[in-house]
Amino acid sequence: MPFRPRYTGLIERYRDRLPVSDDTKLISLGEGNTPLLKLNNIPKVLGKDVEIYVKYEGLNPTGSFKDRGMTMAVTKAVEEGSKAIICASTGNTSAAAAAYAARAGIKAFVLIPEGKIALGKLAQGMMHGATVIQIKGNFDEGMQLVKDVAEHAPVTIVNSINPYRLQGQKTAAFEIVEELGFAPDFHCLPVGNAGNITAHWMGYSEYFDDGIIDARPKMLGFQAAGSAPFMRGHMVDNPETVATAIRIGHPQSWDKAWKVKEESEGWFDECSDEQILAAQKLLAEHEGIFCEPASATSLAGAINELNAGKIPEGSKIVCTLTGHGLKDPDTAIKQSTSPLVTVDATLDAVRDAILNNIAD
Ligand code: F0G
Repeated sequence: MPFRPRYTGLIERYRDRLPVSDDTKLISLGEGNTPLLKLNNIPKVLGKDVEIYVKYEGLNPTGSFKDRGMTMAVTKAVEEGSKAIICASTGNTSAAAAAYAARAGIKAFVLIPEGKIALGKLAQGMMHGATVIQIKGNFDEGMQLVKDVAEHAPVTIVNSINPYRLQGQKTAAFEIVEELGFAPDFHCLPVGNAGNITAHWMGYSEYFDDGIIDARPKMLGFQAAGSAPFMRGHMVDNPETVATAIRIGHPQSWDKAWKVKEESEGWFDECSDEQILAAQKLLAEHEGIFCEPASATSLAGAINELNAGKIPEGSKIVCTLTGHGLKDPDTAIKQSTSPLVTVDATLDAVRDAILNNIAD
């Protein structure tokens, strides 16, 4: 029997809405089609009458939403004859670039901020055979270097300034609409470069213009307080946050994101690192959903807005969980308060460990 894959990725699924032709050779790892999960327990814990859905983008092939954009960017790079791609990254883009380059049989160069990317992401870049260039600087400096070097070397930039990235990422909005049967009232996203919030708005708007939905969500973009240029109203030179994925002070889609805020009648807000980690833990402990810290910013923000009364009860909310929790095991282990009990390998010791912990 010939090999007939069950699902062949988002370009194949949304071919008529993406810039590909019948002849385009698709570079795919089966990305997209991620679960939309309704939170059963957290609204009760919060004491709020709301429907919260999470789009679990951590279940993409390399563990983040970046795969949606990368399948498009690498497919087009290969179609245009490129033999090498390059990006600056806080980790997830580099993991996706490395994987899709390997799939395509081309080279990947990734610039990362030394010491500031989560362990799993570093492992991915190295394992997929990318040339990993650590810089003694942050993401924003890396991004500038990538733009400069691309003028002097035959490499295609696959950061979200590559327009094909946003084309691929807009498909997340299509999937949400198809599954819910409507657009949510509010869509909450973590914001770094603001490419993803822009891409989601493109997706909702496309379906709105085609009459598939009759309303679009208010787009809410949440930043970590130490890396919140959209809250400050200007670029931030030394961004800091435990959520290293969004440790970005010079967002590349600055103008586009302000436009999304205006058009959708949404807003930006900020979350403290403590709120971000608390939301990450809430999802893990009460719903069985493990996302990385940056991803939990969407839920942390939604909780803040609910508590402030800015999201009214009765609302339907979608939060994008952008990356998998396994990306950053160090932060997870550091903040876990679950008992890690070491005992002798005897029946008595194991029984006592159970009896001592069964009450809670
Ligand atoms: N969440 C995660 C897990 C991310 O990795 C990123 C961005 C974002 C949210 C923010 O998305 O930039 O479109 O607003 N990560 C990039 C990277 C910068 O290099 O992996 P955005």
